[in-house]
Amino acid sequence: MRKIGGMFHYEPNTPIENGYFSRICSPGDDLAFTMSGRCGIYYCLQDIARYDTRKVAYVPMYTCGTVLAPFKKAGYQLKFYELDQNLHSIFDTAVIDEISVLSLCGYYGFCNYDHSFVKACKEKGVVIFEDVTHSMLSADGIDPLCDYFAGSFRKWMGVACGGFAVKRNGTFETPLLPVELTHLKQRKESIETENRDIFWEGELRLRQMFDSFASDDNSEYLLRHADFDSICRTRRENYAALLKALAAPLRGVQIVFSELPEAAVPSHFCLYAEKRSELQQYLTDHQILSTIYWPMGPLVHPLPESSVQYIYDHIISLPCDQRFSPSDMQYVAQILMDYSENFTR
Ligand SMILES: Cc1ncc(COP(=O)(O)O)c(C=O)c1O
Repeated sequence: MRKIGGMFHYEPNTPIENGYFSRICSPGDDLAFTMSGRCGIYYCLQDIARYDTRKVAYVPMYTCGTVLAPFKKAGYQLKFYELDQNLHSIFDTAVIDEISVLSLCGYYGFCNYDHSFVKACKEKGVVIFEDVTHSMLSADGIDPLCDYFAGSFRKWMGVACGGFAVKRNGTFETPLLPVELTHLKQRKESIETENRDIFWEGELRLRQMFDSFASDDNSEYLLRHADFDSICRTRRENYAALLKALAAPLRGVQIVFSELPEAAVPSHFCLYAEKRSELQQYLTDHQILSTIYWPMGPLVHPLPESSVQYIYDHIISLPCDQRFSPSDMQYVAQILMDYSENFTR
């Protein structure tokens, strides 16, 4: 059996533009291609911060350290919102008067946050920012009320840079910095050689030095010419194949999103595992490379019995991307069912 998961090769592309960015942007919007997602997030926040005297951002508690870093760097104080185990955001309307930015996230391609809260924030002059890294290929993945959004294709395909940022109805007031050449070299080399050491060297360095860096031209070309129709179709087919094959009750694992809404394009297939390290090892032994998004960062402090703590402790993501087919997913499902049959508490 071939390996399921691992690093992406460069995404194949077509000579004809995919039209994706003209679909997600209106004529009055400003689109910037950035070196990574966090460079795009930071670029948006720098622009927002120019006129933001309060600088308090309302952000999800289930998140990644690399997502919070741009907020801190831009001088934002963080207020966290909870999530339930369906990754549905639990907003507190009492905070609207205390915040200046609302940060949204449709996890793993499934957008199920409460739009009426977004509307209430907007009406009070709160700037709406969406991190669309997980949801940008979903039909409902970019909230119509967003003032800014930013995302990263680095986890969706092989691309050296892969970030972008959009300001709706306006122009970013400062130019991007040129692409950082050492990071670009590390990214290219890690994609071309699948060398994980170089990959991690680049990632760890990026955490220290990220800024409003632009993308390189090749990555922008790739994002404009990737076959998103086929990527979306394959991911949905793979997800549906997994759901279908895993229809019987499972022991030791629980599917996070057990339905595939028409609008959703999944980034991964997520499970909650009772014994996560055991499951991850079992999957690795069967050539299936899973990932844990995310280790809990130092800035978040969920209550010990909370849903957010549960998510951090139990979630695990399996690949369902365009490199694989529904028959590969049947193999994944079989391995999961074997695990489940032999599961002991
Ligand atoms: C939801 C989310 N937003 C933003 C980012 C940052 O993207 P990048 O790694 O391209 O900077 C990540 C990366 O892990 C992410 O998961």
